[in-house]
Amino acid sequence: MLKTLTKIDNKILQEIADEKRVRQTDELFLLFSMGSQFDHLIKQKLDSFGVFCLVADPAKIKVSDVNKIAPIGIILSGGPASAYEYPPFDAKIFDLGIPVLGICLGFQMWAYHIGANVSLSEKREFGMHPFTLLAKSDLFNSVPKHSHVLESHGDKISPHQKIKLLGKTDNAPVSAGQHKHLYGVQFHPEVTETKFGEKILNNFVFKICQAKTIFPAKSIAKQKIKDLQQRLAGQRVLLALSGGTDSSVVAFLIKSALINLKPKTHHLKPNLLGVYIKGIDRPDDEANVLKYFGKAKWLKVKIIDATTQFLKALKGKTKMQDKRLAMRGVYKHLLETEAKKLKANFLAQGTLYTDVSESGGGYNSGAKKAQIKLHHNVGLNFKVKELQPLIDCVKDTVRQIGAEIGVPKELLYRHPFPGPGLIVRIEGEVTKEKLTVARQADEIFIEELKQWQSPLFSKEGEGGVKTTDHSSSLYKSIWQAGAVVTASQTTCTKGDDATEGYIVALWAVWSVNGFTARSAELPYDFLKKVAQRLTNEIREVGGVVYRISDKPPVTIEWG
Ligand code: XMP
Repeated sequence: MLKTLTKIDNKILQEIADEKRVRQTDELFLLFSMGSQFDHLIKQKLDSFGVFCLVADPAKIKVSDVNKIAPIGIILSGGPASAYEYPPFDAKIFDLGIPVLGICLGFQMWAYHIGANVSLSEKREFGMHPFTLLAKSDLFNSVPKHSHVLESHGDKISPHQKIKLLGKTDNAPVSAGQHKHLYGVQFHPEVTETKFGEKILNNFVFKICQAKTIFPAKSIAKQKIKDLQQRLAGQRVLLALSGGTDSSVVAFLIKSALINLKPKTHHLKPNLLGVYIKGIDRPDDEANVLKYFGKAKWLKVKIIDATTQFLKALKGKTKMQDKRLAMRGVYKHLLETEAKKLKANFLAQGTLYTDVSESGGGYNSGAKKAQIKLHHNVGLNFKVKELQPLIDCVKDTVRQIGAEIGVPKELLYRHPFPGPGLIVRIEGEVTKEKLTVARQADEIFIEELKQWQSPLFSKEGEGGVKTTDHSSSLYKSIWQAGAVVTASQTTCTKGDDATEGYIVALWAVWSVNGFTARSAELPYDFLKKVAQRLTNEIREVGGVVYRISDKPPVTIEWG
């Protein structure tokens, strides 16, 4: 759980006063987390502006608490509840006169409070929509009249005489509005797809709330290394190493902490063992782990082949959630056994905020929060203490940290891959045969993406996200891609023989941090080439399709 304000007592007031002294400011922002998947992105944006922002639990922090800490601005995030279900929040806070920015549900909540009608919309809005400004407002200073915004809502606010209409989208007549000191937007300014979102948040903070003091953003990497040095001196650490970016960055953070130990304290060097569990992994993961960590002097690597255990645990399981749970069981058992052997004090994992948030966790807030999917590395309640140095980061911040501490580019800019591996890319029961097909399909798709030497970026102005533009291949210009062995079979003829083969579904996305994503518009010639290779080279594949949906509403992975 990330730190959330749940009460205001003398100790908390003292902590706040101390932080204000260090920052040399008297200004504070409160973010009420209403259970949005994106709440942490709002906090990260305010942090990046250099203002002091605390996240508050709407079920616990009441108007009297708010008065005690006197924030200069309040933000309410989105959330899965509806305003008319009265999500936990002390509505008297709206009447304090402190500027409020309501985002999605947050906007619906203050609109409902002042008497506007909020109801289920016949036309829900998910994904990118054109937005038109209708009136001048400080909130939209330097924002053009027409832009694109990311929406994810099923409820709508009806026009009301007390709400000054500031903007509209195709299905939301009141997409942005104001009532005295209350401002609201139905869309999500905190995500990268909303091109002018950062400007809107900046306007709220500096123009409407008139924040004056900026605290220089500290180097996240340096801070993390310092924390690790304090926690790990002389300890034994088991690290779950996957060959992917996140666990590799954790490994290098621990390495930096080791190197920076002063010579006198060298006897306090932690004992570090990286465990790589194979069986449901990508074709090149093991090789990658061996290439970058196999000969390292600061860490030992142990490879465990768990194919049999995974297949046994997955037998008969057809639902994604059941398969995720089965995978977690094996993963937990193996790591706990190794931790015991090592007498480890800590078990380190590359868990990100995205994983925690989608698993229904994040800020310790009494607001309803949806569990999108239970990630493999969240809430496992290991017997050994867990160390998750990236738990407050999303993918782009992890890459920034990695770049700061010299993590090799190949590790840093690999496409992400889910912890439960190929399991979430196989529909129905996971069998040895389907695992082989999924692995072969991934290999062909990724190989072709790397070979296709013309980059492809999403279009600016349509909420386009330009990701890794440091190179020229198709692979490097998209954020992640995958091949799924679906449960559908198609009749096909191979060598004059009639047979049935799996339909393989391909997907590829542009994204920045994985919270939101757009389907990449891969060239048709490229898709044809991959489809041909998949049906020719993999006997069990009958046909190929390409998924074109964005996140939201779909998630990036199939399962
Ligand atoms: P979704 O599919 O939830 O994915 O939109 C967001 C990002 O997270 C990865 N992912 C996972 N990573 N454990 C992980 O470590 C998991 O259980 C898991 N599920 C999804 C996914 O590949 C994407 O990059």
